[in-house]
Amino acid sequence: MFSTPTGRSGRTRRRTLSTWRRHPLAAVFVLIAMLFTTGGAYAALAPKSEDLQAASSTKIQEGKELFAIGCASCHGLGGEGQVREDGTVIGPSLIGVGAAAVDFQVGTGRMPMAAPGAQAQRKPVAYTDAQIEALAAYVASLAPGPELPEEQYLDVSEGNVARGGQLFRTNCAQCHNTTGQGGALSMGKFAPSLTGVEPKHMYEAMVTGPQAMPVFSDETLTPEDKQDIISFLKSVEEEPNPGGLGIGRVGPVAEGLWAWLIGIGLLIGTATWVVTRSSKS
Ligand code: HEC
Ligand code: HEC
Repeated sequence: MFSTPTGRSGRTRRRTLSTWRRHPLAAVFVLIAMLFTTGGAYAALAPKSEDLQAASSTKIQEGKELFAIGCASCHGLGGEGQVREDGTVIGPSLIGVGAAAVDFQVGTGRMPMAAPGAQAQRKPVAYTDAQIEALAAYVASLAPGPELPEEQYLDVSEGNVARGGQLFRTNCAQCHNTTGQGGALSMGKFAPSLTGVEPKHMYEAMVTGPQAMPVFSDETLTPEDKQDIISFLKSVEEEPNPGGLGIGRVGPVAEGLWAWLIGIGLLIGTATWVVTRSSKS
């Protein structure tokens, strides 16, 4: 038989509840209870280390799929590289090039290469940041190689610009010019201008040595040396130009010469026009 809560016991219950609600500590109690509930819910829902591992293997899987579509035609399905029968390389092996090489090559738009040529060129970037991360994770999973640079070495406000300038002149200027303006190399290759290159890509270029550029390992240039070089290159960018267009910073005299030539050209043009017009009438 069911018995309805009646009489004294029911009323006492209601009374205790309402007294509790008016108790000075009620608010505190409710707050603590809520904190426990949220804490419990967080513990239940927060990513566990297995979940993080699962997330990284999903990323590698995602990168593998992107690679099969966009890169395997030249680099092989497993990144082992492809060579034509006559020995020319369609795409080099990527085993051991590391996440840094992928982030540099894809992040600067060099890869996917449009067509085989003397040198992969900067182009608009073809992948999102998340996709580049996935591609890098996949290639890094093939074999260990240079990792992505640590954030602390990319802070150019911390680097020593004067020391960076010295290191740049001894290690880099023979190809990239004393102010990083770039220059031609043999066989149709060139060292590009370093103006406007992201610090991350500068660091990655040094550790991976793209194309004709040598690899500058941590034994040759420590991470701090690299940071100083990057700081120097960024400070050169901010320096005011000697004037006019950036035609290789040849200086005001050469630029004045251009103004001369164009100005005189215009004058001659106008004079000829006036003469032909007046001779017609
Ligand atoms: C049309 C062919 C082609 C395609 C497509 C292509 N690559 Fe390449 N890749 C090359 C060639 C050729 C080189 C070497 C050229 C050079 O260094 O300038 C290269 C170089 C690289 C390097 C530098 C290797 C090193 O030793 O530092 C990486 C990393 C790379 N490719 C990644 C990729 C990724 C990732 C994709 C897909 C998004 C891709 N490539 C698509 C042809 C290709
Ligand atoms: C032997 C000549 C040579 C030397 C020395 C050299 N580089 Fe390079 N560097 C190159 C070439 C060639 C490329 C272009 C590679 C490519 O496009 O695949 C390049 C590319 C770069 C890039 C990428 C620029 C971009 O457009 O994305 C950076 C950054 C860079 N070099 C920095 C340096 C620094 C810093 C040093 C000195 C520590 C240095 N290089 C030394 C030849 C050189």
